[in-house]
Amino acid sequence: MSTFQTITLEYRGAVAVLTIDRPDKLNALSSEVHKEGVAALDELRNDDSVRVVVITGSGERSFIAGADIAEFQGETPTSQRDRFHERTLFNSIDTFPKPVIAMINGFCLGGGNELALACDLRIASEKARFSQPEVNLGLIPGGGGTQRLTRLIGEGRAMEIMLTGEMIDADAALKYGLVNHVHAADELEAKTMELANKIAEKAPIALQLAKEAVKFASRSNLDEGLRREIDLFALCFATEDKTEGVSAFLEKRKPDFKGK
Ligand code: COA
Repeated sequence: MSTFQTITLEYRGAVAVLTIDRPDKLNALSSEVHKEGVAALDELRNDDSVRVVVITGSGERSFIAGADIAEFQGETPTSQRDRFHERTLFNSIDTFPKPVIAMINGFCLGGGNELALACDLRIASEKARFSQPEVNLGLIPGGGGTQRLTRLIGEGRAMEIMLTGEMIDADAALKYGLVNHVHAADELEAKTMELANKIAEKAPIALQLAKEAVKFASRSNLDEGLRREIDLFALCFATEDKTEGVSAFLEKRKPDFKGK
């Protein structure tokens, strides 16, 4: 198992918790965080004992306060374009085959919000605050924010968040559909782990295929999407988990999914 400087990895049964660990910088996404995060996800991708990943930020105040602004100094258009075309944490999360849950414990700003948007589910503390503040810096989002936020909550609301750069609170984020659930700060971890464990009990290949099908919906037209769904549905019939799931139902017992 690798050791990291800017993140921690913790294994809790079938759920792995990846924590961005730079609390003195409100967990800002430095290039080192991207590098180590990508390596950690590679490790978790290949570990069959891990069925769900939770991503969070260290400390009481912040999930992730955005890209590390200090690293923007002296950068050029070419260096930035190359950097974002590399394997960023956003891309690694987006293509990660297992469910990924963002556990949003505080500031969820800029690249932090974009990272949360790349995850499959977003569970927030009532203290969480969300924004895309790039316009305050003479920038626009570069980690998928303009595209994923718009697809998730619609153009009008995404446009307001993007153009004002102002923070919205957890209630507004819930109303907009930016987050799935909001919990009291002292219950966030327990509630998120409860959800993660519930998902971890499901058939792993079905989870992967369901993710693929849902993600394809915003990348295709309806006819292509429906065709893809049938293909993936049919693929389930090649798995032992489907045989186990159906047998367990008919035999009135709990299924024991092996991810095969
Ligand atoms: N990149 C680099 N460092 C950051 C950072 C970021 N995105 N966000 C916070 N930090 C650092 C601060 O520089 C400070 O470091 P220091 O103690 O060495 O000076 C530390 O984290 C604490 O932040 P601070 O600003 O003192 O806390 P605050 O409570 O006064 O304000 C925020 C909190 C989140 C409102 C403020 O830090 C902020 O606006 N951050 C930038 C958010 C942003 O624009 N993100 C998008 C980047 S594209």
